[in-house]
Amino acid sequence: MNRIFNTSDMDGYGILDAADKRGYKNFYIDYLQKLALDREGAFKTTDVVLDFGCGIGRLCPWLASRCRQVYGIDRDIELLRLATEHNTRPHVAYQDYDGETIPFPQSYFNAILCVGVLQKRIWSDKQLTHILGEFHRILKTPGTVVAIEHVYGKSHVWSYQREELLAHFARHDLVCTAHYPIRRGHWPVLYLIRWGFIPLNFLPRLAQYELNKQRSETEAYLDYKDYLFRFEKKG
Ligand SMILES: C[S@@+](CC[C@H](N)C(=O)[O-])C[C@H]1O[C@@H](n2cnc3c(N)ncnc32)[C@H](O)[C@@H]1O
Repeated sequence: MNRIFNTSDMDGYGILDAADKRGYKNFYIDYLQKLALDREGAFKTTDVVLDFGCGIGRLCPWLASRCRQVYGIDRDIELLRLATEHNTRPHVAYQDYDGETIPFPQSYFNAILCVGVLQKRIWSDKQLTHILGEFHRILKTPGTVVAIEHVYGKSHVWSYQREELLAHFARHDLVCTAHYPIRRGHWPVLYLIRWGFIPLNFLPRLAQYELNKQRSETEAYLDYKDYLFRFEKKG
């Protein structure tokens, strides 16, 4: 198992679930998110990609194995130190920034990935508007933004609702071409995974099952689901 989940999370740098001491649940979510991103097929081998809010760089080496060059940026210097320690690869570079101006020139990236970053508890409406303007500036045309975020069935203090996110992106001419649930927040099976009742080698198959199930599910929900969003900057 990736040692990121044994070291960083236990030290309190919980990028997925800090309380998951054994790391099984984090392994599952990490696997499922990467599978969903692979299925979405948003990244090409020639791409220069920004992992915005990269944290400890969980996704950067994985992205680097699929793309030409990956940059990870985050506001938290301590997380970037861990990223440099644990997730260094050729073609991966980490950089901090001031939280306002993304330190890259116009039209630099083919794609931007953000996972767990576009949240109300991080950005007010005004700040989100500003940072999406930055996304538009640094993206080439055509260019892609892929985001994975919690979406609650009702208004929530931490997260933007799906329609709010869609409206924010639309204001910056970033056109939504896909959005769908990939994981249910408090799926009872997740607790079995976390407590170690499900063998590790079964988790990849379970992730495939859940992805297929969520894709076809239309039921209303009150709690949250992880949604994958894809937006395009078109010419
Ligand atoms: C839930 S973590 C997700 C980390 C990483 N994307 C992942 O999925 O493993 C949220 C990240 O957003 C970062 N963050 C918070 N405020 C930010 C800002 N203003 N700009 C960029 N990143 C920010 C945090 O430091 C943290 O690393």
